Amino acid sequence: MSALQLNDVYKSYGETEVIHGIDLEIDEGEFIVFVGPSGCGKSTLLRMIAGLESITAGELQIGGERVNEMPPSQRGIAMVFQSYALYPHMTVYDNMAFGMRIAKASPEEIDRRVRSASEILQLNEYLTRLPKALSGGQRQRVAIGRAICRDPKVFLFDEPLSNLDAALRVATRIEIAKLKESMPETTMIYVTHDQVEAMTLADRIVVLSAGYLEQVGAPIDLYERPANLFVAQFIGSPAMNIVSATLAKAGKISTVRLASGNEVKVPIATDKELEGTAVSLGFRPEDMTLITGKAKALIEGPLSLVESLGEVTNLYFDLEGTPDPLVAKTPGTGDFKRGEHVKFTADPDKMHLFGADGRTLLR
Ligand SMILES: Nc1ncnc2c1ncn2[C@@H]1O[C@H](COP(=O)(O)OP(=O)(O)O)[C@@H](O)[C@H]1O
Ligand SMILES: [Mg+2]
Repeated sequence: MSALQLNDVYKSYGETEVIHGIDLEIDEGEFIVFVGPSGCGKSTLLRMIAGLESITAGELQIGGERVNEMPPSQRGIAMVFQSYALYPHMTVYDNMAFGMRIAKASPEEIDRRVRSASEILQLNEYLTRLPKALSGGQRQRVAIGRAICRDPKVFLFDEPLSNLDAALRVATRIEIAKLKESMPETTMIYVTHDQVEAMTLADRIVVLSAGYLEQVGAPIDLYERPANLFVAQFIGSPAMNIVSATLAKAGKISTVRLASGNEVKVPIATDKELEGTAVSLGFRPEDMTLITGKAKALIEGPLSLVESLGEVTNLYFDLEGTPDPLVAKTPGTGDFKRGEHVKFTADPDKMHLFGADGRTLLR
């Protein structure tokens, strides 16, 4: 039995439909990450699961039981938000204990749960402090601790790290990864627009766009086998390069012709009827190789921007007939100059082909 199930779930605010029929099954103990651009419906979906928003149509099941009409407090769910609203005049201990005191739990039970949560989150030495004496990351850990104390079956996070600065984000992300390990039976749904959080934390990622579910899969699956152009360009950073091309020859191996006339044989099978039609060829910045001298390039153009990150350098260059610059990742630093002509090959085994409808032509 799945921990949580969405069956053809819709949400409208007044006349405006924002979630357009989502089907999703989540197993007990799974760590699921919802990703997608701002406004795609991540928070709405999470709030519907929590019971903070009504479900316009469709069904939500928790533990096999329909819960559409069940109030939030009875769903066995705890939620952590972006802003960690702690009570400023209460100690860390009291902040974590507050909900249980309201629920009239015994002092022994409260103490046991607070100690266990603060153990998991390494908050032991801060229990007597007030929130103002904590860093942003520690405060967010207290908010998470408060949720743990409720012993939820399902744990929901809505962009819990987005108010933290870069270093704290990394540290707190690692805490959340440990939290997941220490609560293997608890199902977790985590909303983020951060690639790295999604890739590193998720058992499965759910990619949303404009209220539609684009693809569900393990992080590496989405990276290696995106179902369509949207997922291909959303997962991976910098985004996958997409170039307009023609399917010159269909077959078990497809010959793809670029606007430049350059051709590449890609080990992807295509139907004869697609021969001569427009396709999009995709290849990731990390699957490209810089070439020098007389060697034949697949793509080339003038460098428009050099981004040196230390361990890698991103080279942006203009390809004739393509509006957006392409980008290649090269290891290390290098001596590159804007305007310089650069040439690349790309690994055909790692290329992707998309039909005119944006769907991936499968290997
Ligand atoms: N209370 C509301 N009333 C009307 N529209 C809303 C409300 N909340 C969210 N929306 C709309 O629903 C869509 C999804 O929003 P949201 O779930 O917050 O997106 P995300 O969390 O992915 O950024 C957006 O178009 C947003 O404007
Ligand atoms: Mg949101």
